[in-house]
Amino acid sequence: MKKIKIFIMFFLKRFVSLFPKKIENDEIKKIIKSLENNSFYCYKNFFTSDQIEKIRKGLILAEEKSINDGDIVKKDLTNKKKRISNIAEMNLESLNLYTKNNFILEVSKYFHGIEVKSVTKSTYEVKEQGNNPENSPLKDRKDDTIFFHFDRPYKVLKTFLILEDISDKDGPFQVVQGSHKIRYKSPLKKIVRYLSKIFFFRHHYLLSKEDEKYFINKEDIVYCKGNKGDLYFVNTEAWHCGRPLSASGKREVLWNYIYSDSLTPWIKNIVTGKFLKI
Ligand SMILES: [Fe+2]
Repeated sequence: MKKIKIFIMFFLKRFVSLFPKKIENDEIKKIIKSLENNSFYCYKNFFTSDQIEKIRKGLILAEEKSINDGDIVKKDLTNKKKRISNIAEMNLESLNLYTKNNFILEVSKYFHGIEVKSVTKSTYEVKEQGNNPENSPLKDRKDDTIFFHFDRPYKVLKTFLILEDISDKDGPFQVVQGSHKIRYKSPLKKIVRYLSKIFFFRHHYLLSKEDEKYFINKEDIVYCKGNKGDLYFVNTEAWHCGRPLSASGKREVLWNYIYSDSLTPWIKNIVTGKFLKI
């Protein structure tokens, strides 16, 4: 059923995207245009230092709660990773500043073309260099996100808030600008990958190093560096990855995942024509 759902979403999201949206707010207009053309947008100083401090205090509480509940995930592979995945559900006032941010939800609405009431999930993530680099075949890798991949075969929005400045040593998140477009570089090969990921081999959403040349133009790779308080919007249908960190590197970010891919609201919006009013 999940496979069929993904396959249907592939068409529904593309169908709704064909209809123009009326965007009054110039800032949102700029973000949507950049997402459509370049797959990402960097909003400098989205939060002030004081707001980041407030969020940090909330994260200390969230981490304590997560340790008590036993749902903090720690991995030490090619990258060492600490992740708390249920930040939005905790409903902490200091974190709601980010996880229930009206501006981000408003951008999501115009990005998807239907109303978005909440994020799918929010994740706190800290990465450092790992002590157990993996060399197994691609399909067996546990730290799979170090390879270029797409999250879904249709548009999905993720935002990540930088909590500590990110430079080259911190293995910045990389996105291939424009590669969310079906016509980017190798359309047929890409569609085969999409279908293969859905129906045959799950790991086919990952690119081996040798295959990168068929799907990615090196000059389109953007290194998402920035400062504390900067916010990135990314359409993770585009090829993206987080490469290994250097020994002194550390990457600390707060994600919002805004997949908007449950079938019912899409069908409702299409049947009632509500999406035409966005
Ligand atoms: Fe991803």
